[in-house]
Amino acid sequence: MDEPAATLTMMTTPLTIPAVRVTNVTRAYTVNNEQVLALRGVNLTVEEGAFIALMGRSGSGKTALLNMIGGLDQPTSGEVALYGQVLNGMNQDQLTLLRREKIGFIFQSFALLPLLSA
Ligand SMILES: Nc1ncnc2c1ncn2[C@@H]1O[C@H](COP(=O)(O)OP(=O)(O)O)[C@@H](O)[C@H]1O
Ligand SMILES: [Mg+2]
Repeated sequence: MDEPAATLTMMTTPLTIPAVRVTNVTRAYTVNNEQVLALRGVNLTVEEGAFIALMGRSGSGKTALLNMIGGLDQPTSGEVALYGQVLNGMNQDQLTLLRREKIGFIFQSFALLPLLSA
């Protein structure tokens, strides 16, 4: 008697796209004709729903990195992606859409509009 073979498919690796993926990001600033390397080969993956804290002494590059992830600044080299969408090379209109739909950013000095309630 022919019995159908049971099939069982298991995913051992989740096929989720990380909310944030930073790959080999470097950021150099030019100050008084000198190169200041704020970020040197940073790699970071953040899954959706994760709560993380980025810690480091003053001047270690926290703000520089967050500015890249928030689409406010571009890396000198390396790549930043939000939900698989690579930010490098996006024009201002594309970045504006991305900031509207994918990422929120609260500054240390909030920059809230006092006449609005939220
Ligand atoms: N716009 C800029 N122009 C020149 N140098 C900068 C600029 N932004 C940051 N840096 C330099 O990059 C380094 C990292 O700064 P930052 O990201 O602000 O550090 P953190 O937020 O961890 O205190 C520091 O040496 C800082 O002086
Ligand atoms: Mg800072």
